[in-house]
Amino acid sequence: MRRMIWQKTSLPIPLSVNREGGLTSHAGANRPSPFTRREAGGMRFVLLLGVLCFSLTACRTDMWVQQKVEAQDSSEFYALVDPVRGFDGKIYGDGSRPMPPNTIARGKLQDPNDPFLTGKDAQGNLLTKLPPQVKLSRELLNHGQEKFNAFCANCHGRAGDGKGMIALRGQWPRPVPSLVREQLLQQPIAYFFNSGKYGFGIMYPLYPQLNEEDLWAVAAYIRVLQLSQNAKIQDLSPEDLEKLAQAEMARKQRQQNTIAQEN
Ligand code: HEC
Repeated sequence: MRRMIWQKTSLPIPLSVNREGGLTSHAGANRPSPFTRREAGGMRFVLLLGVLCFSLTACRTDMWVQQKVEAQDSSEFYALVDPVRGFDGKIYGDGSRPMPPNTIARGKLQDPNDPFLTGKDAQGNLLTKLPPQVKLSRELLNHGQEKFNAFCANCHGRAGDGKGMIALRGQWPRPVPSLVREQLLQQPIAYFFNSGKYGFGIMYPLYPQLNEEDLWAVAAYIRVLQLSQNAKIQDLSPEDLEKLAQAEMARKQRQQNTIAQEN
């Protein structure tokens, strides 16, 4: 006697019970079942239980079709409290809520007067040294070089001499100044930090594309450029002086050789 289980349980698997009481799928209906009657009974019970659990849960959809505000979506509700006029002139509400004033992200609480952020000490003078949070190191200067080359050199030039591509093309109403001219050697280091953070005259601020850490590194690197572009021969170490003398000798030798060849 064959009985279709799925007829009873509305399970969409065409299983049937064979003569021995075992379960077979229709594909193998003629083969003897590998299950005993007792096992088949147990399996039927488990299947029924599964179907019962399945049919008792998750049948209502009103939790996810309920009204809600999506990020970046417009909202009629918020249009009442804080209306935004769209490009089409209509009034919309902004689904994304603005941050309450003076909100600070967790772990980001900083003293707004910290010289690290402002570049100024308690008396309001520009710092002449790096703030205590920033340690002068090879890494800092390398970082400063990378950021300077990416964010400042396009105008101020890789050597800081004011001969960047934008300056050379004359696209600025005022010439791009050299950052390595003598007058700027006297400026405190925070002068360069502040110019980057707040902008300078017609130069736009490079903050927040560069954060404070980057800007201090850039300021330190500008000092490197100032030293290198204003270096005197006496500033060289004895080894470098030696190398320079050798290079000079080699140059003279080459010159003499060419003159000798030409004659
Ligand atoms: C898009 C071009 C441009 C970029 C990029 C730029 N600057 Fe400038 N910068 C200028 C111009 C132009 C001036 C002169 C502004 C003026 O006189 O109104 C200037 C002025 C300055 C000054 C004042 C120099 C002086 O003569 O006192 C400093 C310092 C300075 N920039 C630093 C930086 C640093 C640091 C960066 C990168 C983080 C940077 N600038 C990126 C165009 C640029």
